[in-house]
Amino acid sequence: MSAVARTLIKDGTVVTAVDTYRSDVWIENGVITALAHPSQRAAFGQPDVTIDAAGKYVLPGGIDVHTHLDMPFGGTTSSDDFETGTIAAAHGGTTTLVDFAIQQKGTALRTGLDAWHQKAEGKAAIDYGFHMITTDVNDGTLAEMGQLVNEGITSFKLFMAYPGVLYVDDGQIFRAMQRARDLGALICMHAENGIALDVLIAQALARGETAPKFHSLTRPQIAEAEGTHRALCLAEMADCPVYIVHLSAPRALEKVLEARDRGQAAFAETCPQYLFCSFDDLARDDFEGAKYVCTPPLRPKEMQADLWRGLKTNDLQVVSTDHCPFCFKGQKDLGRESFAKIPNGMPGIETRLYLLWDGGVRTGRISMNRFVEITATAPAKIFGLYPHKGTVAVGADADLLVWDGDKEHTLDHANMHMRVDYSPYEGKTVHGAPTHVLSRGKVVVEDGRFVGRSGDGRFVKRSTFALT
Ligand code: URP
Ligand code: ZN
Ligand code: ZN
Repeated sequence: MSAVARTLIKDGTVVTAVDTYRSDVWIENGVITALAHPSQRAAFGQPDVTIDAAGKYVLPGGIDVHTHLDMPFGGTTSSDDFETGTIAAAHGGTTTLVDFAIQQKGTALRTGLDAWHQKAEGKAAIDYGFHMITTDVNDGTLAEMGQLVNEGITSFKLFMAYPGVLYVDDGQIFRAMQRARDLGALICMHAENGIALDVLIAQALARGETAPKFHSLTRPQIAEAEGTHRALCLAEMADCPVYIVHLSAPRALEKVLEARDRGQAAFAETCPQYLFCSFDDLARDDFEGAKYVCTPPLRPKEMQADLWRGLKTNDLQVVSTDHCPFCFKGQKDLGRESFAKIPNGMPGIETRLYLLWDGGVRTGRISMNRFVEITATAPAKIFGLYPHKGTVAVGADADLLVWDGDKEHTLDHANMHMRVDYSPYEGKTVHGAPTHVLSRGKVVVEDGRFVGRSGDGRFVKRSTFALT
């Protein structure tokens, strides 16, 4: 099917972050050209292609603003590249992602960004943008931040964790925040006190505590709360918007909530693994817990309720995946002798919408509109993709899902498309999946079959930060 075909998605129920209504969706040249009640159909003439959405929902494609594709990390490289990762994302109903390009210490931002453009070019099956992980903040990189913003890289991630690898100190963070404020850019923060955590890790290893569960026991939630508080204070001092990535701890959420109540431009995401997995998974026998090693770590199950409450009340604005997959065999098992050597990260690019629909919408924890908001509209607005992406509206890109809210399937790795040899949700049955996934008007997934093309995904230049 060509992108220029005139397409009609007929008889569906359109769901946006605010509205739910019955409507046909008309698409031309990759863009939504009309939304009209089915009774008006005759006025629009004949479509070239018709997709029947009767009994189904029409949603904006998911936007995942936290992925790590083809990323060297923990002595290995994340197992999905831009081809396998974006195809898996499309299967799961995500039509845009924002991946993290990395500046290697001692090199220019440009070098890291060029490398990421090369990784994605010709491979991505859906649209993508980049954040820039900044590991060296100095006069040169501060100047480069301006060039990158002009090229649509309008967010920068800084790490308070991983000393000696990605870590930057408070002075560097503060300078980057001041520069971001002047440029209209957003700072994304990995907020954990990595210096103190390294002491706890060394002490645990000295006691012979090497199993995967010690990954969580050496990263207590107070370290995340302290990092989050410090990030918020530094951002307030610099008058810069800040976005806390992969928030896992209720004590950290309290800090975000307080800052937002004071009117600070502060935002936070959580990820499905913190809503659906817990310390119990990390404590599994026979090194199985390694499959659940991610940072910040999985927390006690009781803490999940606070995150759900935060999602409901908008103290948390986004659910992204932090997709950073490593195979169990050959990658996770690098850490058999020491949890500190297990590459940090979990697969999730394909399962985000499934889990949130089944465990959020169908259980009544969140409404369908809130589901759309946290998976598409809010990330689009916060990260400068809106209104082209993140909603169903005339003039927006036709990145759309025809969503069957009842479709039952199992989250076994053998049924999915991520290049990883396990699923954290093996055996779990969920309801809800797309029957059609459209990227700029072109069907890329139909009834579980990928019918798109690697390389059709385009780099998206994002706008500067504009939320008030
Ligand atoms: O465990 C994780 N989250 N791996 C990816 C790197 C990061 O900190 O986001
Ligand atoms: Zn991180
Ligand atoms: Zn991450």
